[in-house]
Amino acid sequence: MLRTLVIIPTYDERENVGSIVGRVRASVPDADVLVVDDNSPDGTGELADALAATDASVHVLHRTGKEGLGAAYRAGMQWALDAGYDVIVEMDADGSHQPEQLPRLLGAVRSPDSPAGADVVLGSRWVDGGGVVNWPARRRLISRGGSAYSRVALGLPVRDVTGGYRAFTADALERLHYERTESQGYCFQIDMTRRAHDVGLRIVEVPITFVERERGASKMGGGIVVEAMLRVTLWGLAGLPRRFRRHPSPVEPEPAARA
Ligand code: GDD
Ligand code: MN
Repeated sequence: MLRTLVIIPTYDERENVGSIVGRVRASVPDADVLVVDDNSPDGTGELADALAATDASVHVLHRTGKEGLGAAYRAGMQWALDAGYDVIVEMDADGSHQPEQLPRLLGAVRSPDSPAGADVVLGSRWVDGGGVVNWPARRRLISRGGSAYSRVALGLPVRDVTGGYRAFTADALERLHYERTESQGYCFQIDMTRRAHDVGLRIVEVPITFVERERGASKMGGGIVVEAMLRVTLWGLAGLPRRFRRHPSPVEPEPAARA
């Protein structure tokens, strides 16, 4: 059986961490959970420790300070690979990513039972059946605009480039070199998508309904958007020569091989 780890980064999610861990454990009882806490001032890390003390499937990685979503995921992914997990999931702590939709994501992952499955499964708001609940127009615009810009600038065949609800095979994480990402903020997600595409991994989008948080505050700020705009633009420019190089015409089979 595949061993699955759900990584949940937290920064000041005291009101959410208990509920999200409980819902994950109920929805996918065979999966383990890793909370990656950046020394949250509100005590989220201690709460997570208390959960781990009563449930051997729950683990906590404590980091010394707030270094952004990208750094938290890089640390969590290294932990997951070192521990030998086969499938690694990214999920927010605030309930925006519904654990009840996780079986659908995991069902699309490549496994010995379904070799035609994907290496990378993206929970997607912007495909048929997906959506967003309770998002202000401003956030919709940032998200759709960010996805559209990244899709065009980077040539990605993906509708939801920036989403944070995803599943990867361990092999995919290694092949796309998650550890070489440098993004601090949510741009990490775009970087992961582009790397997965560039190394030729099989990517599928599965519809999800993103529900805006009811408790606590988003950590998304202007700096995060600016980082994403700058990096995507630089990656896009760096990739131009390769994209516009003429593709060689398909090789004709040798006459001998034809018969
Ligand atoms: N450890 C750690 N360190 N966790 C963090 C940090 C950090 O510096 N910054 C944010 N997080 C955690 C939050 O506590 C939460 O669990 C999760 O990362 C997402 O943070 P939110 O602040 O709730 O993100 P959002 O709702 O604005 O953005 C979501 O949608 C974006 C796309 O529209 C996230 O899923 C993003 O990853 C996604 O790009
Ligand atoms: Mn959120």
